[in-house]
Amino acid sequence: MEFNNSNFARSVFGTAETDNRVISAFGSGDNLTLSLGTFERWREFIYNSCGIYFQDNKKYLLESRLLKRLNHLKLNTYEEYLDYINQNSKKSFELKELFETITINETFFFRNQPQMDALGQKIIPDIIKSKASGLNKKVRIWSAASSSGEEAYSIAILINELIKPKFPDFAFEIIGTDISNDVLQKARSGIYKEYAVRNIPIFYLKKYFERQDNEFILDPKIKSMVRFNELNLYDDFKMRTMINFDVIFCANVLIYFDTKSKVKVVNHLYNSLNKNGYLFIGYSETLHGVSQAFKLESFPKTIGYKKI
Ligand SMILES: C[S@@+](CC[C@H](N)C(=O)[O-])C[C@H]1O[C@@H](n2cnc3c(N)ncnc32)[C@H](O)[C@@H]1O
Repeated sequence: MEFNNSNFARSVFGTAETDNRVISAFGSGDNLTLSLGTFERWREFIYNSCGIYFQDNKKYLLESRLLKRLNHLKLNTYEEYLDYINQNSKKSFELKELFETITINETFFFRNQPQMDALGQKIIPDIIKSKASGLNKKVRIWSAASSSGEEAYSIAILINELIKPKFPDFAFEIIGTDISNDVLQKARSGIYKEYAVRNIPIFYLKKYFERQDNEFILDPKIKSMVRFNELNLYDDFKMRTMINFDVIFCANVLIYFDTKSKVKVVNHLYNSLNKNGYLFIGYSETLHGVSQAFKLESFPKTIGYKKI
């Protein structure tokens, strides 16, 4: 990626490279501005760290997100924070904090019902049939960018309900990964608010959750079917270790990436899949212009990307 509009920006907006701290009359101290030059440096840093690309119109969003860390660290400018995070001794800890701050973790159970239907009614039964005569009697599913686990647990509920009773000699491994440790901790707790469960078919809600006041506690049996690990989709080394998956869900995360980082991540996901495995992305996402390696396969009200 080239960040070549900084000269243009400097000529239009002047050369001020320094963030200005303006202490308001009320002494709030929060009235910091992120100069265009520093915004570009931050966006390049974030892009190189995790593939997320802040478009020009997201400058104020980034500004307010970074401000939380800046205040926490008692730093005075956005440049100081950039210098701080680049120090070797601080980098690995502070990067994690940064990821917590800039990621958007919106998710809920059974967010994409047509994908779940395709998985339960066609894809998993077909994979099981294709493996039936071999020694490998395991189906492996990865929820990449799982956020707080709702997608991975929806898959677990579906498997427990529709697949396990029909194929008792098969094992199922479901892995959820995300760059944010906060959401992974929430996923491991298996405790959700009403917002997260609002789309669950009522039968599943009653069967697999216990309601305590305003919280919904997931059945420990379903919890035990999923493992959660921290993983940055932009980390080439770790991505190469994610192999032999039959189905991958990577939904509602590629929207934050630019085309170049989408290509890189989707290429890794392709390599992570077994032959005849499927990749599912978000409802409003497409691999058009990103990858031609997959065969598009239609299911009722959804499509899957098949590795052939
Ligand atoms: C909007 S949520 C989507 C959750 C779920 N897949 C869904 O569709 O409901 C996006 C998730 O992607 C994660 N994420 C963003 N960049 C990432 C990266 N480079 N590697 C791994 N996860 C990332 C965020 O932390 C966030 O939890």
